[in-house]
Amino acid sequence: MTAHRPHLGIIVGSTRQGRFADRPANWFLEIAGQRPDLTAELVDLRDYPLPMFDEPMAPAWKAPAHPVAQEWSARLAALDGLIVVTPEYNHGYAGVLKNALDHAYAEFARKPIGFVGYGGVGAARAIEQLRLVAIELQMAPVRSAVHIGMVEFIGMLQQGKSFDDFPYLAQAASGLLDDMAWWARSLRAARGVDAKVEAG
Ligand SMILES: Cc1cc2nc3c(=O)[nH]c(=O)nc-3n(C[C@H](O)[C@H](O)[C@H](O)COP(=O)(O)O)c2cc1C
Repeated sequence: MTAHRPHLGIIVGSTRQGRFADRPANWFLEIAGQRPDLTAELVDLRDYPLPMFDEPMAPAWKAPAHPVAQEWSARLAALDGLIVVTPEYNHGYAGVLKNALDHAYAEFARKPIGFVGYGGVGAARAIEQLRLVAIELQMAPVRSAVHIGMVEFIGMLQQGKSFDDFPYLAQAASGLLDDMAWWARSLRAARGVDAKVEAG
């Protein structure tokens, strides 16, 4: 029997006009697409225009009523793990991402989450904050990450460089995907997803 390949969602963590986020997200998707041990798709927060959180109860207690939140939850439910591609905004991550994270709960639980960050210090500060939030969502944040730092970020933004000019970033991406594949496969088995599917 062929083992199930875990399916990852690559969350585009910025929605602002003219965002840089598309470049790292598409670059990472291409690397993920070459892997035999997982599959991946982009999940763009622009496709989920959620209101600022306004539900009567936390999603941990009651599923949100807003139709976009329900679409968002359904999309998350189909994933075995998340890669969040994030900028750093004032040493945190974008508010639109926090709002999206607050709009679901059970769909995150017991799945791995990894990070690709870009900015002055590769969004390390934003990613550390995201790891704390992920734990409250009952996710398993992995240690490996891709940090696209000042030199690479400015090189691509202002000097016409591309990811190919910084091959160590692809190495970091591979390391992150190695971790994600292991955790996603292990946690999928532990969640008993395949057994549930077989049992109907
Ligand atoms: C509100 C705001 C705050 C920012 N704060 C930081 C910061 O703390 N650290 C950093 O490295 N870059 C910061 N930047 C610059 C971003 O790294 C840069 O604008 C990047 O392109 C944002 O990602 P995006 O284009 O995908 O939205 C900030 C940008 C904005 C819009």
